[in-house]
Amino acid sequence: MARVLSGIQPSGDLHLGNYVGAISRWAREQQPEHFFCIVNLHAITVPQDPAGLRERTVDLACWLLAAGLDPDVCTLFVQSHVAEHAELSWVLECTATMGELGRMVQFKEKSAGKESVSVGLFTYPVLQAADILLYQADEVPVGADQRQHVELTRDLAQRFNTRFGDTFTLPRATLPEAGARVMDLQLVDKRMAKSVESPQGKILLGESEDETRRKVMRAVTDSGAEVRAAADKPGVSNLLDLMAAVTGTDIAALEAHFDGKGYGDFKREVAEAVNAYLRPVRSRYAELRTDPAMVEESLRKGAGKARAVAAETMEAVRDRVGLLPRA
Ligand code: TYM
Repeated sequence: MARVLSGIQPSGDLHLGNYVGAISRWAREQQPEHFFCIVNLHAITVPQDPAGLRERTVDLACWLLAAGLDPDVCTLFVQSHVAEHAELSWVLECTATMGELGRMVQFKEKSAGKESVSVGLFTYPVLQAADILLYQADEVPVGADQRQHVELTRDLAQRFNTRFGDTFTLPRATLPEAGARVMDLQLVDKRMAKSVESPQGKILLGESEDETRRKVMRAVTDSGAEVRAAADKPGVSNLLDLMAAVTGTDIAALEAHFDGKGYGDFKREVAEAVNAYLRPVRSRYAELRTDPAMVEESLRKGAGKARAVAAETMEAVRDRVGLLPRA
């Protein structure tokens, strides 16, 4: 059975891209060998208000449980609860090069135009590699934007294995068939992203059905009239991809379904499909939010399970590198 690890940052509001690109698959395919990490150490690579970070961490756990992650099946935990993440990250930083980290697209985007950024933002992908390698993951279910980080992880694992002997499983990213790169509904050439300032372009899990409907109805399309996926129709293509992701229907069948219909009808159906898809999650979230003790207990339990696996890998790493064993 494949070992799986994936992670998500408790920063910004959860959006539909996060959901169809990653979370929905985590829930659908979960198994006992699957680990899901709320990466709060990654969140502090950019300034965070401490109370807000605490709140968002619990809130994100609620959403993940609402999405259907079952702590009796998989392992859901908070990164900072397992000290080995930071420890392995250091060891891997001594394996990674400045050149390869400087090529990371996410770093270039997040540091663009800033006079000063934290060292943590630069070494961010190494901590991500540590998250993955500690659990000996075979597969990393993510959206397309994270593919480069998983490839770096694979390179670092291979380099470490060559230098110190076989230690890490080489992971690969797995992407969903539809919804791997959900685009902003207003800025159609940009990915829907927590960090992009585009309130009307992002469908949030935490908003009302009315708000979702309004955003879809106002989504940027084009001056044509055909509901068809094409490179010169990024807005329509994105809505088709979204509809495919939330209904499980392929794009060709959707194009046939919308043949002869206008953009108004098309958008109405997309909005309804998205709301129907999110309805059960939104309602479970509202229930869970009233029971933070249960959520925290799930995270405590998850941390215990994660620690056992992480400790074993870290012990092997210390041994290979020549760090004296702990008493
Ligand atoms: P994060 O928190 O930005 O996003 C969480 C997941 O959502 C996916 N995603 C999208 N998928 C489709 N369309 C979009 N518009 C979209 N936006 C986001 C992301 O690809 C991701 O799968 N560095 C990671 C967190 C991380 C991690 C890990 C992931 C830390 N350690 C280990 C995997 C394994 C990040 O910032 O994700």
